[in-house]
Amino acid sequence: MVTGGLGYIGSHTVVELMQKGYQVHIIDNLSNSSLDVLEGIQRITGEIPPYDIFDLTEKDKVFQFFSKNSFDAIIHFAAFKAVGESVEKPLLYYRNNLNSLINILDGALNFGTKNLVFSSSCTVYGQPDDKDLPVTENSPIMPANSPYGNTKQISEEIITDFIKSNPQFSAILLRYFNPIGAHPTGFIGELPRGVPNNLVPFITQTAIGLRQELSVFGDDYNTPDGTPIRDYIDIMDLVDAHIVAVERLTKGQTKKNPEVFNLGTGRGLTVLEVIKTFEKVTEQKLNYKIVGRREGDIEKVWADTSFANKELGWKTKRTLADSLETAWKWEQYYQKNA
Ligand code: UFG
Repeated sequence: MVTGGLGYIGSHTVVELMQKGYQVHIIDNLSNSSLDVLEGIQRITGEIPPYDIFDLTEKDKVFQFFSKNSFDAIIHFAAFKAVGESVEKPLLYYRNNLNSLINILDGALNFGTKNLVFSSSCTVYGQPDDKDLPVTENSPIMPANSPYGNTKQISEEIITDFIKSNPQFSAILLRYFNPIGAHPTGFIGELPRGVPNNLVPFITQTAIGLRQELSVFGDDYNTPDGTPIRDYIDIMDLVDAHIVAVERLTKGQTKKNPEVFNLGTGRGLTVLEVIKTFEKVTEQKLNYKIVGRREGDIEKVWADTSFANKELGWKTKRTLADSLETAWKWEQYYQKNA
């Protein structure tokens, strides 16, 4: 069961699971996705997987769904994820992200599903002290910078508490750094509704002429070129880790409950490094200008991935250039076919 299976990370995971022979069932409410994504999935895999469109905050619907289907594992992607919007509409974020998780756990408990992979975020580390960089899974959890970040912290706590009273249930919490890029075919990718919040879709939309100019939010940070540092991980590398996590759960190989893993590359890059690499690999000149800082942005964070590499036997394979190339391929495909 893949919630948010028509979203960015969800759709790429669905494709990979299908290609590995898993039977996948998508649930999505289309709040930040579209049924067109099914076409991309079909172009890649030759099939449209079963899907249901409903809202996971509606407990009756969730229970009805569980009563008709049974699953080896749930991957729970579905959530709101715009940091700025969450500051403006905190209740929307708490209601959506927490109620949907609670309903899924309740449904799993009542209808016997035992394994969960949960989409968490490096946002739980807040702005780490320099001495804590790169962050390990044991780095301190800092007070959340936004209601969105808080929903990820609270969700991790809800799952942990749930497991204490239901030890037959196992979970893996995956803390994503910054996922970018698209499927190598270019048939699916990141498809934000409206104006993108995230860097790479804003870059590709600017390059293709949908946006006039990219604003670089601040060049006065304490970093080599003054722009913030993030750990950009290719979407397909991120997906690979989900497959390993699902298999680890279903084979009963977890060593703790829940297990927590950082999913990043271990390499921090500045915004200007991303822009320059994009210009180089795509041979596009990007129209950008430096503006003031964006509220709520942290200065720098990147992952220590040694635990995930060792325990999961997983490593990132794609480079930043690979990710920017596939993101650009997808943007061109989408604008031609939209
Ligand atoms: N940036 C720009 N211009 C833009 C967009 C982004 O300069 O138009 C910069 C940001 O200031 C930041 C970097 O690009 O320095 C990355 O920004 P993103 O919005 O792509 O990503 P964030 O690191 O802010 O947020 C991402 C996810 C969140 C998650 C967070 C955890 O979108 O869901 O990582 O750090 F919580």
